[in-house]
Amino acid sequence: MQLSESVGGDGPVCILVRVEGAEMVDRLHQGLVELSRVDEVHCRRYAGGWLLTACGAANADPDPLLRTVAALVDQFDSLAEVLDVRRGACELPSGGDGYRISARFRVSGGDAPADADNICLDAAHVFGTGAHASTRLAVQAMEEIAEREGGLPARILDVGTGSGVLALIAARLGGKVVQGIDICEEAVAVARRNVAANDLAQRVVVSSTPLAELSESYELVIANVTASVLLRLAKGIVSRLRPGGCLVVSGLQGRQGEEIEEALALYGLEPISRYADGKWRGLTLHNPLVA
Ligand SMILES: C[S@@+](CC[C@H](N)C(=O)[O-])C[C@H]1O[C@@H](n2cnc3c(N)ncnc32)[C@H](O)[C@@H]1O
Repeated sequence: MQLSESVGGDGPVCILVRVEGAEMVDRLHQGLVELSRVDEVHCRRYAGGWLLTACGAANADPDPLLRTVAALVDQFDSLAEVLDVRRGACELPSGGDGYRISARFRVSGGDAPADADNICLDAAHVFGTGAHASTRLAVQAMEEIAEREGGLPARILDVGTGSGVLALIAARLGGKVVQGIDICEEAVAVARRNVAANDLAQRVVVSSTPLAELSESYELVIANVTASVLLRLAKGIVSRLRPGGCLVVSGLQGRQGEEIEEALALYGLEPISRYADGKWRGLTLHNPLVA
């Protein structure tokens, strides 16, 4: 399935590409540098491989840049993949009152005290300040489930936890055993610090365990990842979802909401709610299968 990905806001468009193998890094790095739409390429170790970040000009249209980068990445088969498309940095202002991300929750920088309705967060250089529309749609979806069912279910999985923001909120909304996973070791380290800062270590565990290696099943799975990552993980995510459980997906843009809904219908999932904020889309789906 072809999926287009684009991103709003200001600042340079950054396309994050994961690649395996030292030789491949050099080849891909060189290929990215030679692309006319790419101004800068950064490289660092990431999730057992390398992360190359290709940045375009400020305020450039992200779609043509993404298309040229994706065409290059395709030549590397399974050794490289586009992970994310972002604009600029996403960092929290430190201190102060932070900001509201939902009807109930506020997010504050490192030195503010955490409480039942305030998430204390240091997102460092990983995704998950709570300010992004895709995160807020996932929070809205979780709050509606909690409202409807008198709290979130006990066992929850957060795929692509980033800073851990959704896992922390899931615990505040009633989750008793919340597992956050991310392929980025830096995100795992940041999320663990945030779990401790919010005094939720009894409920939230974060690791870099690949989805395919999880053996538990969950009553609620949350996944705020790009549409292409979601498509690739769909089968594994559904296999971790208990009969009667719910899946919240976010990080989709425009028509991707419908495309992902169709893709998940093939696994028997039924939509309960659809969310939109500008071009961003989120979905809550139900697994109707009985055990
Ligand atoms: C859009 S961020 C979401 C962060 C946070 N959950 C939020 O809602 O703000 C997506 C995260 O998914 C992670 N990710 C990408 N592919 C993944 C995979 N295959 N398994 C686990 N995490 C993945 C990225 O490293 C990134 O931290």
